[in-house]
Amino acid sequence: MDILTIIGKKRDKQELNKQEINYFITEYTKGNIPDYQAAALIMAIYINGMKEREITDLTLAMADSGEKIDLSEIGAIMVDKHSTGGVGDKVTIVLLPIIASLGIPVAKMSGRGLGITGGTIDKLEAIPGYKTDLSVKKIIENTQTIGICLTGQTLDLAPADKKIYALRDAINCTANIPLIASSIMSKKIASGSHKIVIDATCGKGAFMKTKEEAVALSKMMVRIGKQVERETVCVLTNMDEPLGMAIGNSLEIIEAIEFLKGKSIPDLEEVVLELGSYMIKLAGKGENLSENKERIKEVIQNGKAFAKLFELVLNQGGDTSYIEDTTKFSKAKYILPVLADEEGSVQEIDAEKIGSVSVYLGAGRMRKEDKIDYEVGIVLNKKIGDMVKIGESLAFIHVNDEEKAQGAIENVKNAFRISEKKTMRPKMILGSIE
Ligand code: URA
Repeated sequence: MDILTIIGKKRDKQELNKQEINYFITEYTKGNIPDYQAAALIMAIYINGMKEREITDLTLAMADSGEKIDLSEIGAIMVDKHSTGGVGDKVTIVLLPIIASLGIPVAKMSGRGLGITGGTIDKLEAIPGYKTDLSVKKIIENTQTIGICLTGQTLDLAPADKKIYALRDAINCTANIPLIASSIMSKKIASGSHKIVIDATCGKGAFMKTKEEAVALSKMMVRIGKQVERETVCVLTNMDEPLGMAIGNSLEIIEAIEFLKGKSIPDLEEVVLELGSYMIKLAGKGENLSENKERIKEVIQNGKAFAKLFELVLNQGGDTSYIEDTTKFSKAKYILPVLADEEGSVQEIDAEKIGSVSVYLGAGRMRKEDKIDYEVGIVLNKKIGDMVKIGESLAFIHVNDEEKAQGAIENVKNAFRISEKKTMRPKMILGSIE
């Protein structure tokens, strides 16, 4: 078998067999296939697609490319949560403590940001001391003792995905159903989850721009889940405007803490309730989704979810004084308003443009090796459906580099579309695929 034949087959729109897919994944993971040949094959897959059987084979080969975790020692049905990516997406940081505070153990390995979509691990590292590189033993131990562990994917889990994902990012092949489905499902299989709830984002700030694309991706992941006997539910969520008000690492942590302390953030709440209600159901702890949502609201109101976040941060070495008092997080040097120069109702806040500004300010990486600036980002002051007067602030830019400020202000202003027509707040939940 050789890689040139495999590239040629996919270039000519032919189906790859299991042996060819396994060969590519094994040899690329070992470093025996150079990036330029892997990039050619990935681009051919991006352009010519894959049959369902090929996507399943690719997923399983990637899942088998490294270590696999067995979470059965914890003695519960382990339900995992994953997002297909978004802007301002702090759902994991609030949802995991909520589920754990209901007595349902959760162990999650999250990723870093790539492209305009932020990563949970970068956000958590904004909390001084919080450890994100736990061993498998420690993950199991923490989950057994306090019912929650939220760490990074520093283990040798699905290493093929790590390499292919970075490559896809570098050759603009990120938004593709076979590649996203295999990337997500391979990691979930390797990380030992028994059941999976996926936040399938769609809209301007997501990889899937339309609902149709998000449905197709979701159906694919649900079918892969069935084949490997891991029940999977995809909740389709709206990612046209950023989720919540804050975009940027410590800014999102502060927003997540405030949410768990009871602050009303309607779009975040809608997404958290929907995903959480499915997590409880899949864990076998509540069949009725509406009742599950009430239970979630209760643990937010009675402070149990916040207490669980506190316990999580303490257990993973983080400085809990920041959780108690969010004013301790260091602030960017300049906090500048973006002022409206027209009056009316906000029709659109383009999440892709806002995400790009956030990366430009330093909240994300332009290149893999870039260092994150935890302080910078954008805090929205208006959401879709809000009324705006001339001179009112649409958002605030948190910036450390003065030279970047003016461009960022202009670009955030351009992300807003305001018109006289009154708009409704958009629906966040667009359906589910089971
Ligand atoms: N999240 C992943 O883990 N992989 C993708 O390809 C997209 C989102």
